[in-house]
Formats: sequence, structure tokens, C-alpha cells
Amino acid sequence: MTRQLFVTTALPYANGPFHIGHIMEYIQADIWVRFQRMRGHEVKFVCADDTHGAPIMIAAEKAGQTPQAFVAGIAAGRKAYLDGFHIAFDHWHSTDAPENHELAQSIYLALREQGLIAERTIEQFFDPAKGMFLPDRFIKGECPKCGAKDQYGDNCEACGAVYSPTELKNPYSALSGATPVLKTSSHFFFRLSDPRCIEFLQQWTQSPGRLQPEVLNKISEWFGTGDDGAPKLADWDISRDAPYFGIRIPGTQDKYFYVWLDAPIGYLAALKGLLGAGFEAYVADPAVEQVHFIGKDIVTFHTLFWPATLHFSGRKIPNHIFVHGFITVSGEKMSKSRGTGISPLRYLEIGLNPQWLRYYIAAKLNARVEDIDFNAEDFVARVNSDLVGKYVNIASRAAGFIVKRFGGWLSADLGVEGRMLLDTLRAHADTLAQLYEEREFGKALREVMALADRVNEYVDRHKPWEIAKRAGEDEALHDVCSVCIEAFRLLTIYLKPVLPALAAQVEAFLQTGPLEWADAKRALGRHAIAPYQHLMQRADAAQVERLFETPEPPKPVPGGEEVAPEIVIGDFSKVDLRIARIVDAALVEGSDKLLRLTLDAGEGRLRNVFSGIRSAYAPEDLKGRLTVLVANLAPRKMKFGVSEGMVLAASHADEKAHPGIFLLDPAPGAQPGMRVR
Ligand code: 2FM
Ligand code: ZN
Repeated sequence: MTRQLFVTTALPYANGPFHIGHIMEYIQADIWVRFQRMRGHEVKFVCADDTHGAPIMIAAEKAGQTPQAFVAGIAAGRKAYLDGFHIAFDHWHSTDAPENHELAQSIYLALREQGLIAERTIEQFFDPAKGMFLPDRFIKGECPKCGAKDQYGDNCEACGAVYSPTELKNPYSALSGATPVLKTSSHFFFRLSDPRCIEFLQQWTQSPGRLQPEVLNKISEWFGTGDDGAPKLADWDISRDAPYFGIRIPGTQDKYFYVWLDAPIGYLAALKGLLGAGFEAYVADPAVEQVHFIGKDIVTFHTLFWPATLHFSGRKIPNHIFVHGFITVSGEKMSKSRGTGISPLRYLEIGLNPQWLRYYIAAKLNARVEDIDFNAEDFVARVNSDLVGKYVNIASRAAGFIVKRFGGWLSADLGVEGRMLLDTLRAHADTLAQLYEEREFGKALREVMALADRVNEYVDRHKPWEIAKRAGEDEALHDVCSVCIEAFRLLTIYLKPVLPALAAQVEAFLQTGPLEWADAKRALGRHAIAPYQHLMQRADAAQVERLFETPEPPKPVPGGEEVAPEIVIGDFSKVDLRIARIVDAALVEGSDKLLRLTLDAGEGRLRNVFSGIRSAYAPEDLKGRLTVLVANLAPRKMKFGVSEGMVLAASHADEKAHPGIFLLDPAPGAQPGMRVR
């Protein structure tokens, strides 16, 4: 029976390029999808950029772009990675696309219709300088437990304490440095504590085969009642106040869906982007199996919020959530924000074969939620011994004789021993299929390599290079080499989900057309092959090492200016540099160069400073921002008033040829009045 599979990977935040963790997930899903297609099943494999939320809005603002332009820039960079690693999504979408706006709004209205949306007033930190409510990760302060400075609003990196942002001592906004104030706002909640939701989720999560045992184990904690007798599954706050980059909540002017509501709906939007008018019929078909590949950090969203969202809006619910662990590099953890030691793009740029990484990752993956490690030495050893030494070698040892001595024709006889060997290889097709189906890729590849070992043993026993020297043994040579080629074809079928480009080369060499899984049950018989062409290079340790070198920094735009004569530290400390907040900024009538800045340098008074940055900044963009002030510069009387200091900005010596003025921007946490030294 042909299965209909709708498969996704987690939608990556559109705030940066892919890291190795993304690529690992895509490779895992891509292998599974390619395997299903080789079995004759129909797969829709989609993904999209996860574009919404405060962090992306703020990153866009920092980059001086609209959020739409910012996420479009990120999206434009995706193809190089996906093509580069042979990851064949049918479609790549965006959660900011019209399909997602429509779907999110209609799903929300359906939930409302069910009586599952509640409106409640909550108290939240508000940044008065920025005029916005602050997400927890943009509030910092001193840990209420250990007093460590500069801790985030939800937990302390120093002592591990977990708390709410309102408990921080001396809280400040990581955006503006301003002291946040508590403000009330009305929010919308998805009523997950409703008995209907709890019952549905219990049944959905526990339905056999839906979730991996360790995942089910972990989320079971979410059910039941707490010490106070209330269900542990709390209602979920799904709204955010403007300004927010997101999807507007119907019936409101200034409320948006929290990004985690519309992100998974983006799976459906991506599918709709692929199918167009056929979308609703496809997702209404009960035969369609919906499968999401995700990392272990986002399990709650996918096993509780997402199925409930779908079910209570009357839609198909996911059949499987396949959770994987993280990838470490040389044993080192990588973080979503810091990324990791190796860049996938650099991997491609230095000419490493993408299929080596696909093979290496597959060889380490299993169906459990385990972390895997990328280790350079292990990588080189594995690729060379397995792929080149065991697999490719089989073809290169036999193909020459077939073409030179037998005009490219394979023998159909093969001899008893050869036929037995090939029967053994064929007999593994079902077990291997089951391992792929269960995402036990590591086990599958170990089995394939064990089969390759047996073929190589056969070659070593028969030594075709010696038979070739003996007169009158043409038939034996023909049989042995034909067995090798047929064995190579079978191994290629088993490796094709992992090595799609190599398989395509082999299909051309063996003149078979696209190999399907069922071709493992057939024999090539009398058949002609093309001359052998080199299939895969060995990995070279020195080349792989280049992954870890810091790439050449991009050539700086020359400043066009000689460095000033040397000074000693005492000269520098004469200049008193202070952090200052731009409390106000205004145009200066009669000047097209100047802005009038009102600065707070923590002195208990404000300063008036004229600054020649009008060409680069609009006054409203500067209000609330921190910058650096030369605080002990003698006041200067100007046509428009007295300037009490100077703010620091970078520019090119030749401003005509290289326009642009760039105000200095202290890192978050700096406070007005702090000295820069
Ligand atoms: O954790 C993340 O990177 C999220 N952007 C994943 C979203 S998956 C889905 F829900 F869209
Ligand atoms: Zn602490």
C-alpha cells in the first residue's frame, strides 16, 4: 500500500544562518524521506523560516532593517546550505507568508469557538524608554538568590536558581538599560487546563508508537495535579502586545500571537505553499500520516501545545513526533545563541564532500534522544575505511576487467558461491528497510558495512587480478567480477538514502536507471555497464582540520587614515569617556548636519551636545539609546547654543566615497555614568 507522508523538520528562527545542529536534523529527516520514496511512498517534505517574535524584531532594528527585509535576507541564504548537503525539501516557506496569517487566525477563531480561549489581565515588565513590554530574556538584573550580576529574567547562570523576572534585584532592560516598570495588560490564554484538553492530550501522548518511550516518560510529569489540587497543565499565554513582529489577533488592534502559536502552524502553511488549492483535501485525508522531526529542546511545544491546537481546531493531529538529541563538536556543547565550532558553509567552502557528513551523521544516529559527537579524527577514519575502503573499492576492483575483457557485459551465471553471496545480500533488504523505517540509521549502516566486508572477503578469496593473469580462466574472471558488480549495486541501493549523489553516479555507471528499494529483490542478469569512473575521494585529515581554523577575517574597508602618533596610557586617561543615555534628540533649525542631543551621563543633570550625525540618524531612532560621551571636553559655544561634550562615532576618512556614520553602542548592561577605559 502506498503511504502518504507529510514530513517536516523544525522551523529555524530567521535570525541567523544554519549551524551544524540544523544540518544534522535536516540530514536525518532527508534520509528518512528518501528511504520512504525508494519504497514507493508519496512524501511531502517541507520546512520554513520561523520569522516572528521579539528577538527577531529587535535584531532587525539593530540591523537598521524592517523585520520583513531582515527575514528575507536570512531566507536568501538558505539554499546554499540545503543544496550543498543534498537536503531535498519540496518547499521552503515562511511563517510570515499570507498562508500562515490566514491559517493562524482561522485556527485561533476555531479554538475560541470551542470556548478554549480566555482573556485575563496580567502584570508584566515594561521598558519605559523603548515603550514596549519586555520578554523575560530581555530583562536582566541581580540574582535574587546569590546576588550574581547581569542575570537573565528567568534563571541564574551562576547558581542555577529559577525565578520570575519580577524577583530580580535592580532589574534593567537589556534593550535600553532603563529600569522596567510593572504594567498591566490583557492577554489571551489557550485553556489547556480544561478537562477536555487534559483528557485529549493524555490519550494522544499515550497512544502506542506515537512518541519515543523517553519522551513520553519526560512529559508524563505534565499531567496530574499539583500540591494545590489544580491541574499541572497550566493555561498557555498566546498573546503579545504591540510592538511585536507577528500575526495580529483577530478582533484586536494591538495584540499579536506569541511566536510559538504561529510557528508550528507554519508547517501547514508550508504545505499549503506547496499544494495550493489541493491543501485542504490533502490534510483532511485520514490516510495522510503527519510526522515532525524535532530536537529535544522543543518537545513540550510539539507534544502538548501543538496537538491540542490542531485537535481542538478540528484538524488532523500528528502521527509521530521524532525527537533527536544535540550534536556536540569534539565533545563540546553548542548553544543556539553561540552556535558551534564548525560552520556548515565552511565545510562546503573548503571542499569537503557533503556525503561524508551525511554518512558520518547517519552512522551515529539512532531512534533514541541521544546526543551525538562530531570528532574530526573519527570522521576521517570512518569515511575512509567504510565508504572508500569497503564500499567503493568493490566496484573499482571489478569494473575494469568487465569493461576491458568482456565489453562491459556482466555474466548471468556467477557460480554457486557468488549466487549464495548475493542471496545473502538480498536477504537483508527487509531488515535494513525496517531499520531505516525506525530511524536506526547507525545500525543499518553497520549491517551494510558487514555485508561489504563479506563481499571483500569473497574478492580476496578469488583474487580476480590473479585469475586475470592465467590463461583459459576467462569464465571464472567474468563470474567473480560480475558478482562484485551485482553486490555493489545491492549495497548502493542500501546506501542510497544516505548518499544520493553517489547513488546517481552509480546508476549512470551501471546503466540501471533510478534504483528503488524493490530492485534489491531482482537480479541484474545479463546487462552491460559503462566504464568505471572514480566515485569518491578519500577524506584527508589536513583538509578536515581546516574546518577548525578561524577563517581569514573579511578584508576591512580601509579606513583611509594613518594611525595617529603613539601615546602613552596617561595620555589616554586624560580623556574621560562616559556611558550616556540619549534622553532626547531633535533636528537643529538652520543646520543640515547637526542633531541636538540631550544626554544623561549619570550626573544628576542633563547635558546638551550638538553632534554631526544628522545624515545617518533620525532623532526618533536615537531616543533611549546608550552611547559614549567625551565628558571632559571644554564646552564649546556654537551658533545654536553651547555644546557640552562630544559623542563618539566611526566614519571613513573619505566620507564622500564611503558614506556612513556609526554611533558607538555599548554592550547591554552598561549604565549611564560608567567610565569607558
Ligand atoms: O526552536 C526553534 O528553533 C524554533 N524556531 C522551532 C520552531 S518549530 C515549529 F514549531 F515551527
Ligand atoms: Zn544566582
